[in-house]
Amino acid sequence: MHPDIADILFSKDDIKLRIAMMGRQISADYKDVSLLLVGILKGSAIFLADILREIDADVNYDFVSISSYCGDTSSSGIVRVIKDVDADISGKHVLIVEDIVDTGWTLRLSYLKENLLTRGAESVKVCALLDKPSRRKVEVNIDYIGFVIDDLFVVGYGLDYDGRYRNLPYIGVLKPEVYNRNN
Ligand code: PRP
Repeated sequence: MHPDIADILFSKDDIKLRIAMMGRQISADYKDVSLLLVGILKGSAIFLADILREIDADVNYDFVSISSYCGDTSSSGIVRVIKDVDADISGKHVLIVEDIVDTGWTLRLSYLKENLLTRGAESVKVCALLDKPSRRKVEVNIDYIGFVIDDLFVVGYGLDYDGRYRNLPYIGVLKPEVYNRNN
């Protein structure tokens, strides 16, 4: 285990098993249609790559990049889409892929779902590996959830702190002294 990690919340095997289950559900739900996974960079890249390979359907993927908000963002705040979807989305069933939904601001303030629907997507749903509902500031509907977690500072499997730990194969709780060091 990495020395900055206090505890492993989900092991590599836990994650693999859960994603296989999610993949089976998604495969069944989208079995006769064209599915486009849209990952929100950068955190979702690892999860998207793994769940993609558990989906047995007509599936493609793309990424968007969304400018992050400041901590004090109000409901009138703007979160911009910096990199848009390249693929043609008209008539496609889109599944937005997130590593974690925390406050909900990223999904809500980017208007990503509404934007994709306006541009002709047949349906838009959301899939998140982690859901931290205790931190929610705005209501967000998540259609596929990997794990619901408490308000813990988690890193690994794509999730970072200050650009680090994305490479850990598990999801772990960061030791408080690591983030307190920088405050
Ligand atoms: C993280 C995560 C989600 C977002 C969720 O992204 O990947 O996109 O935060 O938080 P929210 O529900 O409070 O908006 P981050 O901005 O850390 O960028 P990254 O994916 O590049 O690490």
